Amino acid sequence: MFPAPTYTQRRKQLADRLPTGLILLPGNGEAPMNYRGNAYPFRQDSTFRYFAGLNRPDLLLTIDAETGEGLLYGDEATLDDTIWMGEQPSLAELAQQVGLTVGGSRNEAFGAVAMAEVVHYLPLYREERRRVLRRCVNHSARPSEELIRAVISLRSYKSAEEIAEMDRAVQISMEMHRAARAGAKPGMREAEVAGILEGLAIGAGGRLAYSAIVSRDGHILHNHAHGNVLRQGDLLLIDAGAETDTGYAGDITRTFAVGAEMTEQQRAVYDIVAEAKRRVIEEIKPGVPYRELHDLSARIITDGLKDLGLMKGSTEDAVAAGAHALFYPHGLGHMIGLDVHDMEDLGEDLVGYDAEFRRSEQFGTRNLRLGRRLEEGFTITVEPGIYFIPILTDRWRAEGMHTEFIDYDALAAYRDFGGIRLEDNVVVTADNCRTLGSV
Ligand code: GLY
Ligand code: MN
Ligand code: MN
Repeated sequence: MFPAPTYTQRRKQLADRLPTGLILLPGNGEAPMNYRGNAYPFRQDSTFRYFAGLNRPDLLLTIDAETGEGLLYGDEATLDDTIWMGEQPSLAELAQQVGLTVGGSRNEAFGAVAMAEVVHYLPLYREERRRVLRRCVNHSARPSEELIRAVISLRSYKSAEEIAEMDRAVQISMEMHRAARAGAKPGMREAEVAGILEGLAIGAGGRLAYSAIVSRDGHILHNHAHGNVLRQGDLLLIDAGAETDTGYAGDITRTFAVGAEMTEQQRAVYDIVAEAKRRVIEEIKPGVPYRELHDLSARIITDGLKDLGLMKGSTEDAVAAGAHALFYPHGLGHMIGLDVHDMEDLGEDLVGYDAEFRRSEQFGTRNLRLGRRLEEGFTITVEPGIYFIPILTDRWRAEGMHTEFIDYDALAAYRDFGGIRLEDNVVVTADNCRTLGSV
């Protein structure tokens, strides 16, 4: 948790952005696996945590947009709670830690919100949050676009104290990757490598920021199965990051050959992806549209695949037509912060696009979550990749897709290749950018 003035200032900035109404920011509750006492690991709502700092279940924050007054609501621990969970801080103690005033119990929160003429709340990404809203807000009410935009306008710009936490998240993530790489041996199951990663994330006081991808089937983009046995020389793609005890995420991807040097074929593809990542990072600075850097990465990948004889024709035309997406069907990156895909619950397009840059509708590029111009203080991922996806290749070939740009016959030698992705996290600085974790 940061010192109380950080949260007081954030709440004031939020209130200043809305002329009137009551801002309601519920924290998350416990989600039972099967009964109340056996819950999934508790995950606080990131926006609640941003404005109220507290990482405990069943709290609510309201902010009066006119006066800026912030009130914390929750129920005091019962004797039973204390017996089962140890001594709990009072609501007053919690409020004091983050510069808030106690508003009352949860029921009192519902009463106060029900009385307000205008209530601003954010999109409801969990059924439990819907239930909270139903207790105090009219059925016809909708999430407030004004509040969404105000929250995005604050959370997008990371302060120095947040960047220090992001550095720490990436340092822990890199430690996890180093250990996983050293530990991955032929004959091991992917799950054993996943265990190394997760153990270190927990040992550092936090946890994984998202389900780790640890796969010799790197071409399956978000493959969370860990059932394969690793063989010597397999390409192993690991996409894993830590969430710190303060809630900030790292999101790092590395790909290497298990127990061997890369083959010439593997190395050639790896070098193209590494070149795309390197050149994109070189170009990052305030004012540059991320959509243009995505296109730059697509051109570098297309050029590289042309050198390997897998693509052909004009690079510009191939990228404009979307032919590169056979190999690179995802976006270059996204915002990262308290969420690995930062603020995605607030709406991908409101976070990553604006009036100047609209999301593409083209296959592949439409998965780019961040297209707008970069600004100082943004923390983002850079994650180009090349994948050989048999099911997509067969479909495109059968449909005669982009035959002027793709040599389908040459692709036969890559059918079992898998995929390579490399991912770093950077902070946009006044002049360019800095790779997080590098302090
Ligand atoms: N780890 C998910 C992603 O890279 O977006
Ligand atoms: Mn990732
Ligand atoms: Mn990512």
